[in-house]
Amino acid sequence: MSKNERRYVEIANLTKAYPNPFGKDIEVVKDFNMILRKGEIVSVIGHSGCGKSTVLTMVAGLNEISSGSLVVDGREVSGPGPDRAVVFQSPCLLPWMTSLENVMLGVKQVFPHGTKAERKQICEYYLNLVGLADSMHKYPGEMSGGMQQRVGIARAIALKPQVLLLDEPFGRLDSLTRMDLQDVVLEILDREKITTMVITHDVDEAIYMSDRVCMMTNGPEATVGQIIDVPFARPRLRQDVLDDRHYYDFRFSLIAFLEKQEHAKEAHVKAVKERLTRTSSEAGTAATVSV
Ligand SMILES: Nc1ncnc2c1ncn2[C@@H]1O[C@H](COP(=O)(O)OP(=O)(O)O)[C@@H](O)[C@H]1O
Ligand SMILES: [Mg+2]
Repeated sequence: MSKNERRYVEIANLTKAYPNPFGKDIEVVKDFNMILRKGEIVSVIGHSGCGKSTVLTMVAGLNEISSGSLVVDGREVSGPGPDRAVVFQSPCLLPWMTSLENVMLGVKQVFPHGTKAERKQICEYYLNLVGLADSMHKYPGEMSGGMQQRVGIARAIALKPQVLLLDEPFGRLDSLTRMDLQDVVLEILDREKITTMVITHDVDEAIYMSDRVCMMTNGPEATVGQIIDVPFARPRLRQDVLDDRHYYDFRFSLIAFLEKQEHAKEAHVKAVKERLTRTSSEAGTAATVSV
């Protein structure tokens, strides 16, 4: 593996400060560092609101970076680009277009010089891969949530991105559809070797899908708490993972980390409340007046 492949995506000190109407900006994410090698799948887990989507949208170039840098395949990037494709929880398909037309929208942008027939072939190939061979001419309103998300995945992968960014892509789906789609995505990633960051709050999904799991600390100033290697080779079979004697220990260590974060958050909230109570009782009538 070349140096660029070993450090294919390099996220360095990524920081996001959102404006705060009551005072100085709030650094929601601070100094987030991660290096992904080519073809690797890294999942990011953390409590709701800690800053996972903020990190992902910054990497996608959809959310301005306050400080820090992002390098993909040796080039520093800023702003969105066809090298990075994103799948969100809802696929946001255009309701007046069929699956094929929805996928075609992106393909037209990325392969403007291909013939119409070539572009159609690309769309059909990816819709086929996600299991929609029979639904290419259906409209979103005629499809289930799971089928729509399949279109969203086909649309992202048909762009032939170097990096795929998935933000809780199966979060709205029932557990059977979710498992189906995890397998669909894994099969494609194994075949196409796309470097992937997948955000999830499902510990089992993180273990099943990724090579490494990044656990984020709670915000503000959320950052990488710990990154752990998943001890199962890819491609992997769900049953083999579940049967492995290391699986439950591994799962437990992830849950223990998240619980520790939760306790730290509770202690923080308690400390802030105590401080506020002290301040308002010290301020006496002034506090009463301002309330
Ligand atoms: N545009 C914004 N302006 C101000 N605060 C924001 C904005 N977007 C997100 N936040 C805050 O940043 C924090 C992290 O949000 P997010 O990245 O969506 O978390 P997660 O994806 O982990 O649930 C939250 O506290 C959220 O309220
Ligand atoms: Mg989110």
